[in-house]
Amino acid sequence: MKQVVVTTTFLLSLILFLSSIANGHNITRILAQHPDFSTFNHYLTTTHLAGEINRRKTITILAIDNAAMSSILSKHLSIYTLKNVLSLHVLVDYFGAKKLHQISKGTTLVSSMFQATGAAVGTSGYVNITNLKGGKVGFAAEDNDELNSFYVKSIKEIPYDISVLQISHVLTSADAEAPTSGPSQVDLISTMAKQGCKAFSDLLRASKSALSTFQENIDSGLTVFCPTDNVVDGFVTRYKNLTDTQKVSLLLYHGIPVYQSLQMLKSNNGIMNTLATEGSNKKYDFTVQNDGEDVMLETKVVTATIVGTLIDQDPFVIYKINKVLLPRELFKAAPSAPAESPKPSKKKKKKVVDDDEADSPDAADAPEADVEDQTADDVNGAIGKNNGVGLVTLLVTLFMGLLVL
Ligand SMILES: *[C@@H]1O[C@H](CO)[C@@H](O)[C@H](O)[C@H]1NC(C)=O
Ligand SMILES: *[C@@H]1O[C@H](CO)[C@@H](O)[C@H](O)[C@H]1NC(C)=O
Ligand SMILES: *[C@@H]1O[C@H](CO)[C@@H](O)[C@H](O)[C@H]1NC(C)=O
Repeated sequence: MKQVVVTTTFLLSLILFLSSIANGHNITRILAQHPDFSTFNHYLTTTHLAGEINRRKTITILAIDNAAMSSILSKHLSIYTLKNVLSLHVLVDYFGAKKLHQISKGTTLVSSMFQATGAAVGTSGYVNITNLKGGKVGFAAEDNDELNSFYVKSIKEIPYDISVLQISHVLTSADAEAPTSGPSQVDLISTMAKQGCKAFSDLLRASKSALSTFQENIDSGLTVFCPTDNVVDGFVTRYKNLTDTQKVSLLLYHGIPVYQSLQMLKSNNGIMNTLATEGSNKKYDFTVQNDGEDVMLETKVVTATIVGTLIDQDPFVIYKINKVLLPRELFKAAPSAPAESPKPSKKKKKKVVDDDEADSPDAADAPEADVEDQTADDVNGAIGKNNGVGLVTLLVTLFMGLLVL
């Protein structure tokens, strides 16, 4: 029995180790262990920089403690300007404490994420790192002559993935602090109308309630899927047949309240809640599936494919899709349904199965039916999405096996 426990403990550690590699770094979690950096950490999250940082490899975060953050917060910058300032503190190269002291010729310019966004004028998104007398290391934004911040200590180093170093002061940069317009000033309706989604934007404009829900989410994270004009035109008669509440639900079904880059959609197969999702019985969710480079959205009534990107400004993105998303809560996958153009035979087969489900009166509310369906449909997606679950299952299986022995 002792051996079993030892083996299990070993397996558990191995599995935790493997899943930590699989999930990459998480800046929020790293900084959460250092309460002195809670303000900096908080703003990395609210500016959505944390997500960007977690997606990148080979980066260095120049972290500012709570006391030093007050100087920048007292300037009352908008969240978008603050994002520029903080992105200047994310260097797109790896600098451990050791490398910092070994810079050739004692001084270098390193590109930051501010430079990478394209928002920086000229080279103002570069950070000057200079070795000074007595082992002191100074930092400054390139558009600032004076080295105004100094290396304090190393907080976390995972060579050559992520390094988190504390510096004494916020890097001051007139360019990064210049007022900037955020995505909320983007006109949702006209952005869609100008790029082949006019019909959908007209439906949205006519629904005050749906439009305001979309707009309220732009700042905090919003992904919109707008069906192209020709498919919306063919759908309008069915749309007019819906009650006002159903119209709102259908429109909200085309938005999800989080930012999802194309890369994230490609790597995160699985169920997505939408703006129309409310509690457990109004699910209005759909499944994201990949087919090679294609990202498909499956509602069980229809499968749409992303065919383009209208705008991508984290935390806000609009994709163009080739079908109206028909939620199973509102539409049956009836073969006689006229609005959809003929489907490839690949999808036909699945549709027959869905028809049976949709015909039963409480298909939409029956969770068991759904779970079953998901396992069949999304086995790949589930494993792809959540390595943890797969590994835990493996562990449990191994453990049971060992107990039997
Ligand atoms: C990172 O860690 C935070 C805090 O532990 C957690 O809320 C968040 O979901 C994590 N993000 C990712 C992408 O795992
Ligand atoms: C960095 O700044 C210092 C001080 O202003 C300057 O002497 C040095 O030349 C700069 N380094 C680079 C690579 O521009
Ligand atoms: C409109 O709704 C009625 C009643 O539910 C239905 O019989 C009819 O087929 C619908 N028309 C369209 C175009 O969907």
